[in-house]
Amino acid sequence: MNHNLNPPDKQTLNKLKAIVGTGGWALGSQPTRHFDDPRGRFKGKACLILLPSTTEQVAEIVLQCNSSKLSIVPFSGGSGVVAGQLSLDSDHAIVLSLEKMNKVRDISVDDGVVVAEAGCILENIHNTAQQHGLMFPLSMASKGSCCIGGNLATNAGGIQVLRHGNARDLCLGIEAVLPNGAVYSELSPLRKNNTGYDLRNLLIGSEGTLGIITAATLIVKPIDPESVTALCAVESPAQALMVFKQLRKAMGDNISALELMSKFGLELVIEHFPSLQLPFSLNHRWFLLVEVAGHKGIGSRFEEALANCLEQELIADATMAQSQTQQTNLWDLRENTPEANRAGGAFCSSDTAVPISKVDAFIEHTTNAIYDIHASLQINTYGHIGDGNIHHNVLPPTGHAKATFINENPGIVELVRMAINDATVKFDGSISAEHGIGRLKVRDLELYAGETKLAAIRRIKEALDPNGIMNPGALIDR
Ligand code: LAC
Ligand code: ZN
Repeated sequence: MNHNLNPPDKQTLNKLKAIVGTGGWALGSQPTRHFDDPRGRFKGKACLILLPSTTEQVAEIVLQCNSSKLSIVPFSGGSGVVAGQLSLDSDHAIVLSLEKMNKVRDISVDDGVVVAEAGCILENIHNTAQQHGLMFPLSMASKGSCCIGGNLATNAGGIQVLRHGNARDLCLGIEAVLPNGAVYSELSPLRKNNTGYDLRNLLIGSEGTLGIITAATLIVKPIDPESVTALCAVESPAQALMVFKQLRKAMGDNISALELMSKFGLELVIEHFPSLQLPFSLNHRWFLLVEVAGHKGIGSRFEEALANCLEQELIADATMAQSQTQQTNLWDLRENTPEANRAGGAFCSSDTAVPISKVDAFIEHTTNAIYDIHASLQINTYGHIGDGNIHHNVLPPTGHAKATFINENPGIVELVRMAINDATVKFDGSISAEHGIGRLKVRDLELYAGETKLAAIRRIKEALDPNGIMNPGALIDR
């Protein structure tokens, strides 16, 4: 891919190294975690990795790269699964990692905000908030390694979107370095601020193509006095949706998570994480992991609601965590799912959102379409069903290793991917619900976004980044 960007000369590289000083850079010729893809499908490259410690250093780097027309690939926690943080085609790129900018700058209980630098690990923000009796609700399986900068750059979703929204909904202000090296700083805790175009929301979800988020003002909320988790057995995704409807009536918006899992998915987790335990035998095909949170006593209301569902035979079995340990055990089954997919040889992993009313039809259609391609494929269908966000992970038939199977079935990866995309379009969905476009889905965006949207995206990119230095190859090709 030619982005008309220059390979860096020695003198420029030396200037960049001098900005961050000793200990602030590494050569791209050495192996580094900055080139790793969590699913092992891609390998990044770069000539230099820069680790700035301040926003001023980030601004100086960007200014230098812009005047020398060098490409920058921003790197956060490295847990993104669409290669947004990996330069795949060219080793001319400079990786700019925010990992040293990992301070919580401020916490205000009265304003209900935390101001965190981009390199703060999500779980550290959880812990800081907790020390003040508060919580930051954005959460996902990678919370121990993903960083808030990347969460915002990709508008990450996760397991509590149903009640608290996406990363975007939890951010009041940002500080970012724009492609010309200027620092845009609006780290305000204001809940209302209608003063012109919303640059914050333009940068959130722009995947590092319009600038580098260096800090953010995040909404923190009082910790719920009580939270309860239950695992329920259901016969089908359609029934899971009926349970959701019923629980919604009974619990209002106190349902903080609603995750669909399957028998096959749980078996896969247990196979690869044998120390984990199932709370009951897997006599059913589908499961719902539900968490409710709110005022004291919400647990008994939830128990009542589940009893009603059992009585109406909407759920076949249910177990409610009786302790923090049991709650963690239930969540471990869910949170180890991505790793179990990888270990099991998943060769296709989708991230679709469809209208909630169409989730069951979408799952049925997609499943049939995948079996039509190859009847023995294994499908782990799971996800944030309360948001209409389903992940299909497709694995080779039992006993087949991933690499051999793909070699023996040329084109199968693309066939499966396109079958899921076609179903997504058919059911009015989005090809990227929460993971972003990265480099993996650039063609898909071109295919499905529509001319008007694509043209507007290109013009915004051109206006803010005329030299195309920011994360070239991600989100959109110029
Ligand atoms: C999950 C990731 C893959 O929900 O989005 O497990
Ligand atoms: Zn997900």
